Amino acid sequence: MSRIHKSTNPSASNQQHPKSIPEKRQGQLLEHIDDEVLSVNVLRNNLKTQAATITAAAAAAAAAANSTQGSLSESSSTPLKETIAPTLEQEISLQEKSDQLADENWHIATEYYKNIDTKAFRQYELACDRVKSFYEEQHAKQTVAYNIQARINFKTKTRDTMSVWQALEKLNKLLDESDPDTELSQISHALQTAEAIRRDGKPRWFQLVGLIHDLGKLLYFYDSRGQWDVVGDTFPVGCKFSKRIIFPDSFKANPDFLNPLYNTKYGIYSKHCGLDKVMLSWGHDEYMFHIAKKYSKLPKEGLAMIRYHSFYPWHQEMAYTYLMNDHDKEMLKAVKAFNQYDLYSKIDREYDVDELKPYYLELIDEFFPDKVIDF
Ligand SMILES: [Fe+2]
Ligand SMILES: [Fe+2]
Repeated sequence: MSRIHKSTNPSASNQQHPKSIPEKRQGQLLEHIDDEVLSVNVLRNNLKTQAATITAAAAAAAAAANSTQGSLSESSSTPLKETIAPTLEQEISLQEKSDQLADENWHIATEYYKNIDTKAFRQYELACDRVKSFYEEQHAKQTVAYNIQARINFKTKTRDTMSVWQALEKLNKLLDESDPDTELSQISHALQTAEAIRRDGKPRWFQLVGLIHDLGKLLYFYDSRGQWDVVGDTFPVGCKFSKRIIFPDSFKANPDFLNPLYNTKYGIYSKHCGLDKVMLSWGHDEYMFHIAKKYSKLPKEGLAMIRYHSFYPWHQEMAYTYLMNDHDKEMLKAVKAFNQYDLYSKIDREYDVDELKPYYLELIDEFFPDKVIDF
């Protein structure tokens, strides 16, 4: 069962421990919103998969019908495999065409969810209700100006100096502090993700990514302004906000929405400039990416997994493909591979931290040669 279904009421725990941490920095609140955001992404993915399956079945039926009529040409006689499993390039091309059509036919209701299980869609809508206000705040406040300032703060302020494992323990403690009985645990999620990756025989660097991908949530206890600049889906600032971002209408409250420098398709960027040149909304992904880039020997795929794991508009919805370069296509494959472990390992069993600690201490040492780092 996902942690979200077992979680306790955050407002109740606030009342029990009103003075432990200022309300704005109640780690449990952060974890609840993060879990809910993730559950929405799982539901969205399920709906998308259902839609793709229905579309593939319809295409197969149409192909079969055509086949019986003897009207198929030689070159189109085996299209089903491609329909079910398009290559990344085909997926990108389809999404770009779909975006173009959506722009041209914005007033026509999409058929996308037409044949989808209504129960699943209802679950999605309910989850959306809970996270909607979070995204309203985030989408209004993640401006170019804020993002530049956040990066300046990151580079100029000193926070904690400690080992990676100590950082994991610190995050765990901070997030659990408001309620000792909580089942929300950062180390649990870190170990579940890492162990799922290890179980599948993936490389050691990949396992380490699983362990540390959410470590950037420490930002919540340093100089973030709230939850909205720590968790939630990320997106580029400085160019037009994609309709594929969840709750896209809430960007109307963002000052950049009407700024002609920032509200065109490419904004301050250029076609296929590469995501490395794009400023993604500030949060735990970006923060931890900079730490890992500076201190670790993780390969570029591992760094991309950390940096883009919350960039759902890109890796799940295939938005902003027009900013990607060829390198990003490789990174997208890596991020998609990682995402499955982030989303679905939460249903796995809880691990004994002490039992696994020696293995992961060695793994950390292998990729973080400086034992102590500046967070
Ligand atoms: Fe995350
Ligand atoms: Fe995660």
